[in-house]
Amino acid sequence: ADYDLVIRNTTIATAADVVKGDIGITGGRVVALGERLDKGGREIDATDLIAMPGGIDAHVHFDQDTADGSVFCDDFESGSRAAAAGGTTTILPFAYQNKGQSLRDAVNKYHRRAEGKSLIDYAFHVILSDPSEKIMGQDFPALVADGYTSFKVYMTYDDVKLSDREMLDALAAARREQAMLMIHAENSDCIGWLTEQLELKGMTAAKFHATSRPFVVEREATHRAISLAELLDVPMLLVHVSAKEAMHEIQRAQARGLKVYGETCPQYLFLSEEDFEKPGEEGAKCVCSPPPRGTDNQEHIWTGLSANTFHVLSSDHAAFKFDDVRGKKLPGAAQSFRKIPNGVPGVETRLPLLFSEGVNKGRLTLQQFVALSSTNAAKIYGLHPRKGTIAVGADADIVLWDPKRKVSLTNSILHHNCDYTPYEGRELTGYPVMTLSRGEIVMEEGRMSGSAGRGRFQKCDRPEPARPRGKPLIDPSIFT
Ligand code: URP
Ligand code: ZN
Ligand code: ZN
Ligand code: ZN
Repeated sequence: ADYDLVIRNTTIATAADVVKGDIGITGGRVVALGERLDKGGREIDATDLIAMPGGIDAHVHFDQDTADGSVFCDDFESGSRAAAAGGTTTILPFAYQNKGQSLRDAVNKYHRRAEGKSLIDYAFHVILSDPSEKIMGQDFPALVADGYTSFKVYMTYDDVKLSDREMLDALAAARREQAMLMIHAENSDCIGWLTEQLELKGMTAAKFHATSRPFVVEREATHRAISLAELLDVPMLLVHVSAKEAMHEIQRAQARGLKVYGETCPQYLFLSEEDFEKPGEEGAKCVCSPPPRGTDNQEHIWTGLSANTFHVLSSDHAAFKFDDVRGKKLPGAAQSFRKIPNGVPGVETRLPLLFSEGVNKGRLTLQQFVALSSTNAAKIYGLHPRKGTIAVGADADIVLWDPKRKVSLTNSILHHNCDYTPYEGRELTGYPVMTLSRGEIVMEEGRMSGSAGRGRFQKCDRPEPARPRGKPLIDPSIFT
């Protein structure tokens, strides 16, 4: 045979093109694209299927430390399996830096958690909770050089939040090293104050989680983060943008020519504050931050995707079991929304939801779907072109989609370790039927194969999109 594997007569969709042809795979990489390719050791007829670059989920929380005794229910094994089942071939979870901990110790800890467990390839973002001089001076550049080139900065949550001063320290270091900063933009003091007022009034049900974090809280922090980035001329990406008002801040920045990127998530397209009104404690299932907004907001976020305001659609998979005292029923959670662990599961449903409502309903082109689900994340986080495209030389991370397959979403068909999906009962058209990771089939018709631990750590390059524009408002020699 000329190739290990040939995927034949398929529709090949990338962020650039949709073409008909064959894909030749050898040694885990794409080595040929063409018509009537020679024989493969294995042949897959994919006549009615679409071959796309495997999804890159650039925002997942697996087996991460928490500050409140809650436990993320997915580790690298169940999380990566669910990802692959849903058509994702690369995941970017977080290595969490405890305050005072070196960044090196943080990433090593999460390497130990991933090793022997991940079914698919992975890279790490680092949650930067302590940007002190010593860490940013030595630890930070060493990590960037070793392939950890993206760092999440929180503007809220007591265990991780940075002050504006600390954000400037992080921004200056990111500019020097050409690292990508990911910003969780919510105004911490507003949330704290509103939460206190609500608790004093006895307004403590899950739905008041949304009341405690209105859109202004997100818009203000988004505006502030962008202002700091503009001051020092540093690209940044705003993660999990929920509301049109924050999105408009990003659009205004982009219109000024700033390198400001945006991520949104399925929960802001498919959930709304009405989901908090569900009976009993069900509302807790949708508690995440920022919270889903009004139903009218959803179409604005779709517009942001189709107009390319957003570059990535990630899951922000942060799964806590519903019926579990280490999950949504953490002690005190029934007494106040403040104690409900924040986050929703979504690593497996991200792409099917986006395909069904985005591509099949005509809101997104296939090329946009590929860009949002895979290619842009590869570029923004320094994994392109090894990941994120179907091209000669790229890893054979490929997902075959049946664009007409009808699926009723229900938790029992999912592979995560969570006891619910917030999308229960949704009817979808279009579903992944085969996932290949470096040429190896890891999912076929919902059946999983491949060994836990076969996934490899991917070093990220310094992302080109993180290169400063070279037009700082102040002379960079002052802060470099
Ligand atoms: O509520 C959420 N999104 N939890 C996960 C952590 C984060 O801020 O992304
Ligand atoms: Zn966040
Ligand atoms: Zn609008
Ligand atoms: Zn997150």
